[in-house]
Amino acid sequence: MTALPKTFRVKSFGCQMNVYDGERMAELLGAQGMRAAAEGEDAELVVLNTCHIREKAAEKAYSDVGRLRREDGSKPMVALAGCVAQAEGAEAKARSGLIDLVVGPQAYHRLPDMVAEAAGGARPVDTDMPAISKFDALPARRRVGPSAFLTVQEGCDKFCTYCVVPYTRGAEISRPFADIVAEAEALVDSGAREITLLGQNVNAYAGGLDVLIRAIARIDGLERIRYTTSHPADMQDALITAHGEVEKLMPFLHLPVQSGSDPILKAMNRSHTAESYLRTIEQVRAARPDIAISGDFIVGFPNETDADFEETLKIVEAVGYASAYSFKYSPRPGTPAATMDGQVAPEVMDERLQRLQAVIAAQSLAFNRATVGKTVPVLIDRKGRKDGQMIGKSPWLQSVFAETGAGIGEMVTVRVEQALPNSLGGVLA
Ligand code: SAH
Ligand code: SF4
Ligand code: F3S
Repeated sequence: MTALPKTFRVKSFGCQMNVYDGERMAELLGAQGMRAAAEGEDAELVVLNTCHIREKAAEKAYSDVGRLRREDGSKPMVALAGCVAQAEGAEAKARSGLIDLVVGPQAYHRLPDMVAEAAGGARPVDTDMPAISKFDALPARRRVGPSAFLTVQEGCDKFCTYCVVPYTRGAEISRPFADIVAEAEALVDSGAREITLLGQNVNAYAGGLDVLIRAIARIDGLERIRYTTSHPADMQDALITAHGEVEKLMPFLHLPVQSGSDPILKAMNRSHTAESYLRTIEQVRAARPDIAISGDFIVGFPNETDADFEETLKIVEAVGYASAYSFKYSPRPGTPAATMDGQVAPEVMDERLQRLQAVIAAQSLAFNRATVGKTVPVLIDRKGRKDGQMIGKSPWLQSVFAETGAGIGEMVTVRVEQALPNSLGGVLA
């Protein structure tokens, strides 16, 4: 038996949905009368909200758990949450004696009960994926920053052969339309001016993502709408049209392609080809010519040859990305690709990754340079490093820094004077 913790800290890793889940867990604990630990203060409960997508991310979870032991040998109550918790379940307790409870992404509404059970001496595990939505059991949204995340769809039925998400997040489910609109209104009431709609397959949202975007665009006080992540095969005409018609919908699209080689895309079970992807990009650009395109790539998928990799470089060349993430293939337990013949040597992956990242970096810089001289609206979201300097986002999701007396949450107009690989500098216009 230990006392119930009075202070907590939630640390989230991985994708934006984990950030959203982390906020909701903090709200749940807050509603129980616990308070978030201040910076530098030891929290009595630490929630590690983990990511399982690549081996490195998953291993990080355990090394982070190990680091929670204090110098005097004591430790906080440790909750393992997120996708590693879902994937490992009770095994996680066996791997580390420091873990007091294990809670999966579809069960975290039970966190306060589980904390009480752990204080009573139990080591509870809950990785259920109940049919009833956890969202119904969550407290009201509290104050958030100017830019808020809102989960509208969760889980994935695509089963790309390299990916753990269908196993860690479960089957695709869409939240009810009215609940999402109500949450968006609550977020705007509490200070959000930008909302990013989240889903592992957000454009597979059952009610039609375009319909949802148009409904949310009617909320007074909301100025910017974004969404992520989309699957190329679900990029419906109606959504593309919305990009040309809904002013609040920002000109940015994250559309992962993974590879430019059709045989590799097929082996990945991606259900799109290089050509169908390029056609989609063309349609999106026809609807919204200034749209910034972003993507994800995997190099070194089993049996990827030099020629396959050249196709990936070609598709990057053809699209012209504003930004993109690229990763070395990481075999994940339980996924079909992990046991495929033809695993690619690490040195080969390293070399391909370097080449790909060099091309992407050059494209990002070119995209940023094309903004120099333009006047852009910037939503301020944090302080800069220098005195009086503030940082915010352009419509194209570039970080822009400028000297301004404007506070966090204000929209300012900046004339861009300087382009760096990952940011822009400018002066108030
Ligand atoms: N739902 C999104 C993103 C899922 S995970 C989509 O469909 O694209 C984010 C990115 O991680 C993926 O786009 C992919 O590029 C990468 N990824 C997923 N599994 C991986 C693995 N086993 N090895 C390396 N990268 C992986
Ligand atoms: Fe993973 Fe593919 Fe689903 Fe994206 S679409 S979450 S990559 S299985
Ligand atoms: Fe990672 Fe889970 Fe997101 S595996 S990328 S935290 S859905």
